[in-house]
Amino acid sequence: MKRFKKPMDKVEVRNLTKSYVERRMKARDPGSCNYHEKCEVLKGIDFRVKAGSFTCFLGPSGCGKSTLLQIIAGFEKADRGKVLIDGKEVTGSSSRHIFVFQEDGLLPWLTARQNVALGSRHITDPEKRSSEEEDYIEMVGLQGFEDHYPHELSGGMRRRAEVARALITNPDILYMDEPFGALDFVTRLQMREEMLNVHSMFDSTILFITHDIDEALQLGDQIIVMSERPSRVKADIHLDAPHPRDLSSGHLAELRKEVYFLMGLHAAL
Ligand SMILES: Nc1ncnc2c1ncn2[C@@H]1O[C@H](COP(=O)(O)OP(=O)(O)OP(=O)(O)O)[C@@H](O)[C@H]1O
Ligand SMILES: [Mg+2]
Repeated sequence: MKRFKKPMDKVEVRNLTKSYVERRMKARDPGSCNYHEKCEVLKGIDFRVKAGSFTCFLGPSGCGKSTLLQIIAGFEKADRGKVLIDGKEVTGSSSRHIFVFQEDGLLPWLTARQNVALGSRHITDPEKRSSEEEDYIEMVGLQGFEDHYPHELSGGMRRRAEVARALITNPDILYMDEPFGALDFVTRLQMREEMLNVHSMFDSTILFITHDIDEALQLGDQIIVMSERPSRVKADIHLDAPHPRDLSSGHLAELRKEVYFLMGLHAAL
């Protein structure tokens, strides 16, 4: 399998602030009129992400993790603050930046191979395109299932096909919003390993939202822990422990405890 080498983006988020205005019915007299309530989501978010690194975002449900990723990717606008990618301010989305969501994103009327092929349209030489598709299908362990439709694949296989479809675009930044959230525990562990393999083979910068503290500690070069809404960066942790990581002892066990505490999960340890 080839390794891609190319100059990489880095992300810098400066003092990012975002509110939504929510329309609510007046509780006492629902028929009369509505009022608008400002919902502060992000309040002064600052961090930097190194090129080619794997950054995990942790934080309570509803704190604004997805909103933050959508702003970085240029799908949403911040009220204040800036996102810089390689020093340039983000003003919109880019085809070099690919999103993988928690929900199934495969097109159900296309086979696994045809879904992966949606990501390879930029490759003009048909032979090269076809051989790349084979490579990526093999890399995510889907060989033998290329011609299956999504409903004929397991949940883990569908995720693998999505990851292959994202990677074949050779993205500079891969955004993953709880990509393995719907999978069973064992399949999640397998996908974790596969993400580490993928990350060692590619230069893509990965921004990865998860609710799973161990997943973040296993995968991340950096872990950003966000607070309750209005959300700030509660901790910005850099890890350089080699893989595979043993979270049960030493520095990583201490760090794991610290992250549980940061997440307010004192009783869960
Ligand atoms: N388009 C929108 N319009 C109004 N409010 C929104 C919109 N998108 C998100 N919100 C609100 O912003 C807050 C943060 O939402 P967001 O989806 O970013 O949280 P999250 O941290 O990703 O949560 P979860 O972990 O549950 O996925 C929530 O209160 C949500 O209701
Ligand atoms: Mg979310």
